[in-house]
Amino acid sequence: MFRVIANQMIVPNVHLITLRAPAVAREAKPGQFVILRAEEEGERIPLSLSDWDAASGTVTVVFLNIGSTTSRLASLQAGVDIPTVVGPLGNATDIEKYGTVMCICGCYGIGSIYRIAKALKEVGNRVITIMEARSSYLFYWEERLSSVCDEVIQITRDGTRGYRGHVHKLPDILKDLDEPVDRIIVNGCTFLLKRVADVTRSSGIKTMVSLNPIMIDGTGMCGVCRVTVGSTTRFACVHGPDFDAHEVDWEELLQRRKTYMAEEVVPLRTSRCEERHFQMQEQSRE
Ligand SMILES: Cc1cc2nc3c(=O)[nH]c(=O)nc-3n(C[C@H](O)[C@H](O)[C@H](O)COP(=O)(O)OP(=O)(O)OC[C@H]3O[C@@H](n4cnc5c(N)ncnc54)[C@H](O)[C@@H]3O)c2cc1C
Ligand code: FES
Repeated sequence: MFRVIANQMIVPNVHLITLRAPAVAREAKPGQFVILRAEEEGERIPLSLSDWDAASGTVTVVFLNIGSTTSRLASLQAGVDIPTVVGPLGNATDIEKYGTVMCICGCYGIGSIYRIAKALKEVGNRVITIMEARSSYLFYWEERLSSVCDEVIQITRDGTRGYRGHVHKLPDILKDLDEPVDRIIVNGCTFLLKRVADVTRSSGIKTMVSLNPIMIDGTGMCGVCRVTVGSTTRFACVHGPDFDAHEVDWEELLQRRKTYMAEEVVPLRTSRCEERHFQMQEQSRE
């Protein structure tokens, strides 16, 4: 069993959970992920490792409360145990001295890019991070990222901080930087990854994205995380999750991610109803 050490909502709908998982913490590398179950009868979901500490045997993940399992995970109190934390899974992000590296992140990717940016800095890169969000109140870990990056730039869709708009602002940012960027690494939701791929395709800057297709076993056995990269079939769990953004078949990926949408709504409705039922029971006891 894996103990929940801390669990909190850090900005609306984004949660940070720290779990005791010593074997994972000992082996973890930037860019890897875990598969966990929030309860005995629950489904397995993949979540990227945002941080870890081998000495205390803990791992931290940042997640978006989006469906039934993440909703259950968000409700767990410190001190309870969960049945499964498997990992570290997937290949670590390639960390080399490239020169200037731009790390682009949004939503849960702000958390998962932190150790990648830190590792890139440690091997001597100049690291520029671009954080993107709908509004400035959705940013978190700015200080943490600033402490490991040479520069942190923000983009908000409502213009409350930094550049106004979305990652289509990237050409403007690259122009304002007035220095060559040797590599771009992107973590976050599929739309962010695809948008960056579209924007950087013509620039010729090597762009790596951490893909998040549906996964089940995470070990290359079930085939559900199949993606097409450069006309080759790849399993994101064992060949990725990082791939060349300009070679990914984005339409196929977006389509496959929707495969179980109808089924995903049913447990979500049931779990929200159960939650409400328990709340009402508690209230009637009081
Ligand atoms: C390698 C990898 C790393 C990820 N890292 C993070 C992370 O750090 N933080 C975070 O918030 N999310 C991350 N995700 C996405 C996360 O796994 C899904 O949001 C989660 O599974 C949703 O489960 P749910 O039951 O709460 O929602 P559901 O209602 O079941 O699904 C909501 C959405 O999540 C996707 N999803 C559902 N089940 C899976 C699954 N088994 N695998 C992948 N996607 C699924 C569906 O496409 C759907 O659109 C990652 C996905 C992958 C593949
Ligand atoms: S999750 Fe089953 S093969 Fe990748």
